[in-house]
Amino acid sequence: MDANGDGIGDFQGLMRRLDYLHGLGITAIWLMPFQCSPGRDDGYDISDYYGVNPAYGTLGDFVEFTHGAKQRGIRVLIDLVVNHTSDEHPWFQDARRDPESKYRDWYIWSKTKPPNANKGMVFPGVQKSTWSRDAMAKEWYFHRFYDFQPDLNTSNPAVQAEILKIMGFWIQLGVSGFRMDAVPFVISTKGPNVTQPREQYDMLRSFREFLQWRVGDSIILAEANVLPNTDMQYFGDAGDRMHMMFNFQVNQNLFYALASSDTRPLAKAMQRTESRPASGQWGIFLRNHDELDLGRLTKAQRQRVFDAFGPNKEDQLYNRGIRRRIAPMLGGDRRRLELAYSLMFTLPGTPVLRYGDELGMGDDLSLPERVCCRTPMQWSTEPNGGFTKNDKPVVPVISDGPYGFQHINAAEQRRDSNSMLNWTERIIRMRKEVPEIGWGEFEVLDTGDDSVLALRYDWKNNSVLFLHNLASEPREVELSTGLKGKDNDSLINLLSNDHSRGGEKGNHRVCLEAYGYRWYRVGGLDYLLKRSEF
Ligand code: NOJ
Ligand code: CA
Repeated sequence: MDANGDGIGDFQGLMRRLDYLHGLGITAIWLMPFQCSPGRDDGYDISDYYGVNPAYGTLGDFVEFTHGAKQRGIRVLIDLVVNHTSDEHPWFQDARRDPESKYRDWYIWSKTKPPNANKGMVFPGVQKSTWSRDAMAKEWYFHRFYDFQPDLNTSNPAVQAEILKIMGFWIQLGVSGFRMDAVPFVISTKGPNVTQPREQYDMLRSFREFLQWRVGDSIILAEANVLPNTDMQYFGDAGDRMHMMFNFQVNQNLFYALASSDTRPLAKAMQRTESRPASGQWGIFLRNHDELDLGRLTKAQRQRVFDAFGPNKEDQLYNRGIRRRIAPMLGGDRRRLELAYSLMFTLPGTPVLRYGDELGMGDDLSLPERVCCRTPMQWSTEPNGGFTKNDKPVVPVISDGPYGFQHINAAEQRRDSNSMLNWTERIIRMRKEVPEIGWGEFEVLDTGDDSVLALRYDWKNNSVLFLHNLASEPREVELSTGLKGKDNDSLINLLSNDHSRGGEKGNHRVCLEAYGYRWYRVGGLDYLLKRSEF
């Protein structure tokens, strides 16, 4: 929210909404980059790691905010964008000006155009190359992302020391950890002669050790869209590297499952990402501030998701993804939204919700690239959705069509007990009372129907079971909990009074409506009395 009326959200505004967030039940908030930046990639191009972009307030406002969050038991995670800086960062300015500069070797240079300059772009179609010539340096510099984001030479010990200093600075100001941007690229070898980049995983351990040493309960949540066979390299076999990772594998296969009603590849993705250290955890999400990257699906699977959720060219981005928010992708269909969110809250890991998705907010495809799903939060029916008193918010509020703030806003949904907002609040409350999902082991159960996913978790002598019907028609399934003993005959529904009692052989027959879902406890509601210590 914009407290000072200049059309941009700021820390004071965010501070005023902490009670709303607390009421929703969130336990942590992830802030996108807010440091000084020319803002050519929404802050992912930092020009000073130790300052707040004046548009958002001052360092003082930031500390007020972390204090307010702490008072409400909300942890603050911030983005750690250290793969690259802005080209306006004084380090880069100094480096390009003077070959003798101490910062020269903080970046990656080449006297000639490297042969692989037209390879490895992260934003194909928009970004033309990964090397650009700098007229002042009279050399070429490497940029994995846009040309205004020169890569830091992260193999340089001086750069590594600076990264630790940046972490140390912000945790001192009250943050509980970092969403680390572009981790595979941070730890990659970089240079004009690097044809096969190699990940230097050990670097991750040094980041973690530093953090753990300074503040024992802070974490790093890695953005690493990698293949399952390298996951443990990121977590570390002994749980000595990243505390958390976003599960991109599950994310992409989840969208495939929603598009095709075939849950098999999703189950496989869950099984392939099952191993993690006891102290590590997956972040489970539907959408984030970027495009929905479908690059890890097969061509046919990707096409299936495009056809279902983003058939038009303007819906798609970088030849691999969809740039829409979840609600418009699912045609605003409440049944499908609940199904998707119910999955997000019950798949193995920690759910990560994007602001506005608790209302079913839409997107603005007239905005470029990924900005389309970064429009201001829709608080009320007041001008500009109650986001700002300014007539011209820097990013326009969605103001027409079915997703306009007149129809989708927090104030009205607060008063409607059936709203998406109140549904989300209730589901978060229940999710917190089912720690089995985060801590337990899971098993995918056979339902005899590829459209119906059955998942059971076991933890400390208790079990929970979830059913999700991804088909557009009702489905009846018969299944066994896979557990033995009389106690396991009943499934207690956690969201309604529709319980299930096992038949002759202990099997359950459940009829699920189109896109229906069920959250059950196996046994009874005496689970807290039954819970064992291990
Ligand atoms: C990943 C971020 O999520 C994205 O928004 C950004 O453009 C790139 N990293 C570059 O920092
Ligand atoms: Ca402002």
